Amino acid sequence: MTTTLITGGTVVSSTGRTTADVLVDGEKVVALIAPGTTALGTDLTTAVDTVVDATGKYVIPGGIDAHTHFELPFGGTEASDSFESGTRAAAWGGTTSVIDFAVQTTGTKVPDGLATWHEKAAGNCAIDYGFHQILGGVDEESLAYMPKLVDEGITSYKMFMAYPGVFYSDDGQILRAMQKAAELGMLTMMHAENGPAIDVLAAQLAEAGKTTPYYHGIARAWQMEEEATHRAIMLSNLTGAPLYVVHVSAKQAVAQLAAARDDGMNVFGETCPQYLYLSLEEQLGASSDEWGAFEGAKWVCSTPLRSRAEGHQDHMWQALRTNDLQMVSTDHCPFCMKGQKELGKDDFRKIPNGIGSVEHRMDLLYQGVVTGEITLERWVEITSTTPARMFGLYGRKGVIAPGADADIVVYDPKGHTTISAATHHMNMDHSAWEGFEIDGHVDTVLSRGKVIVDGGEYLGAKGDGKYLKRDLTQYLV
Ligand code: URP
Ligand code: ZN
Ligand code: ZN
Repeated sequence: MTTTLITGGTVVSSTGRTTADVLVDGEKVVALIAPGTTALGTDLTTAVDTVVDATGKYVIPGGIDAHTHFELPFGGTEASDSFESGTRAAAWGGTTSVIDFAVQTTGTKVPDGLATWHEKAAGNCAIDYGFHQILGGVDEESLAYMPKLVDEGITSYKMFMAYPGVFYSDDGQILRAMQKAAELGMLTMMHAENGPAIDVLAAQLAEAGKTTPYYHGIARAWQMEEEATHRAIMLSNLTGAPLYVVHVSAKQAVAQLAAARDDGMNVFGETCPQYLYLSLEEQLGASSDEWGAFEGAKWVCSTPLRSRAEGHQDHMWQALRTNDLQMVSTDHCPFCMKGQKELGKDDFRKIPNGIGSVEHRMDLLYQGVVTGEITLERWVEITSTTPARMFGLYGRKGVIAPGADADIVVYDPKGHTTISAATHHMNMDHSAWEGFEIDGHVDTVLSRGKVIVDGGEYLGAKGDGKYLKRDLTQYLV
């Protein structure tokens, strides 16, 4: 077995930081060694196979992105990252596990969708991967399959209050799924937007000739998110099913979650980098020489970017500090401008929804440490430790401790990263983050003990990543 010693770094966890060497044997962390001591009396620097010098750098557990959509069929096209390209890009950015969404669209069967997702991922991933199950149709058959999902390590499932005719479930269907989830201890993930009302607003805007990407943000008003979040919380309250609201972007939705948590409910919320940094005015309203007012299509996603004038972005950072929101995922759902986003050139309703960020989440959140929005420890917590706990991976993932998988990132706070489509590794012809400057850099990445990124070189391989059979959420008592 290969042994690796990561020397001289500051090991950061969700609860503190310490100077220690990290000893890796095979796929596992075996010891944290304080300065001036040796493990088992050995002179490790000569005994180990590989030494990674982390002096002056942070040594953190690999990132876990719990919300990606590789190869997702959507809006008449398919998300442009495959499991191969998407997980490789994730590795470049210090993410060592992803949880993607297996899809059951309305009218198809759950096990068929799941089998398709296993086929897409198996043998293609650079890093470890798990699945949530999208339930696009609640009936006797899909409900009966839920216990089997748990047996297969798929302990969370997503429902949509939006996208009628594609993924949408009505309140009765959601209630039935939640009743079953409460029985099983499954975590219900909710896309909380009032889809039927949004579709009416969107049609009215389009009929009035308001067809540019900006109006995507107007149609998907914050009231639609607040209302649906409240409804989801009430259904969770009634059924006793724990609830995790995905891609929260409106401060009013955060308030709903915070109030429910204050009442002692098991409800959680995730936000995404786009809702921390980007806005309705600056991005959805953008206009360039190349694309004109269609430029904003690069940032069409749902929930939409919110108004900076209304203060949603600052509120998302605040909620991450106060734990009203518990973690940050990307909702990585990339589409190229050419041939994909272009489908909605004359009508924002036809623009495939999604932004690609799987490569940049660790960097973008680290920039929040630099600017004083969050602490170093909170950075680790919201990008790795909480995702591990939330989705039944903690112990194996989300922590650097003896017995844990050696998924480790050496992060250089004196390094620098400029984000650009010219240098990123995602399969996209543009970057939603073009020109963003990060005061830090992912130097070295280990995935289950193997160095897969080092010194600007990719050393991993397709198929290194293994399927993660997950336990139930560790936030349930
Ligand atoms: O715009 C988004 N979020 N696209 C992906 C599908 C979803 O709703 O998560
Ligand atoms: Zn969604
Ligand atoms: Zn999503």
